[in-house]
Amino acid sequence: MALPPETPAHSTAAEDEPVKAVPLRPHLRALAVQAAAAFAVLSLAWPYFGLRGEALPWPQTALAFGAVALLIACLTRQPWWWRLIHALFAPLAGVVAGLAIDPGWFLLAAILMLLVYRGAVSGQIPLYLSTAATASTIAEITQNRPGMRFLDLGAGLGSVVVRLANARPDARVSGVENAPATWFLGYLRTRGSVNCIWRWGDIWQAKLGDHDVVYAFLSPAAMPALWAKVKREMQPGSLFISNSFAVQATEADALVEVHDARQTRLYCYRL
Ligand SMILES: C[S@@+](CC[C@H](N)C(=O)[O-])C[C@H]1O[C@@H](n2cnc3c(N)ncnc32)[C@H](O)[C@@H]1O
Repeated sequence: MALPPETPAHSTAAEDEPVKAVPLRPHLRALAVQAAAAFAVLSLAWPYFGLRGEALPWPQTALAFGAVALLIACLTRQPWWWRLIHALFAPLAGVVAGLAIDPGWFLLAAILMLLVYRGAVSGQIPLYLSTAATASTIAEITQNRPGMRFLDLGAGLGSVVVRLANARPDARVSGVENAPATWFLGYLRTRGSVNCIWRWGDIWQAKLGDHDVVYAFLSPAAMPALWAKVKREMQPGSLFISNSFAVQATEADALVEVHDARQTRLYCYRL
């Protein structure tokens, strides 16, 4: 199972992905759909009810927002879950507003979510965890790299680094994480591990060249920029492993299937 540490570099500048137009980021696109729906509904409803001297009927108006937002989401061919979110957002917001809940609770909920899901907001990288079987498989893949320096980019709760540090006492295992609550739980988990370095930091500032093996379980959105960073910084002979998300336009040197419930796939790239 172990992947040989040294093979000729196989990727060249010619393999670089072509430059594409950058689409609107999902949260801005969602805001744009809701704003367009509100504008369309209000530009008809306000004059209509204004001329009749009547107040806007907010429950019906919220339903109209939802219907128009759904229409726009369908016309712009958004995935089904976005259509559902757009259809329900304004009507549900109207219902919740009617409950007269203290706004402080919403602020508290938003802060708690940010403490865990900061990566989802800033870079479309949410928190989900590698399985124990994945960590064992990584230990197997890297068994022929004695004393390896391993880095988990966006290390979550330390699910990989804790297990790998135990399985490989010869290795120096690092994790970098920047969601506050997640980082803190990972810190508590790793502080007893002598060969484990748990760092607060941004994956985009991490020095990949200092590591023999870099592991990432991020999101499809992060892969193009991450692969560019990997190619720029990692040393020849080192290994990049991406859980679930392949690098587009570059074939992996090995695809390792993990026998876990999630049927995890590890895409392995030798530099
Ligand atoms: C899918 S989780 C993977 C967690 C862990 N590597 C594992 O396999 O169990 C991605 C992690 O990356 C973190 N993350 C996202 N953007 C980051 C950034 N710019 N810098 C550091 N960590 C980030 C998230 O907070 C999240 O914990």
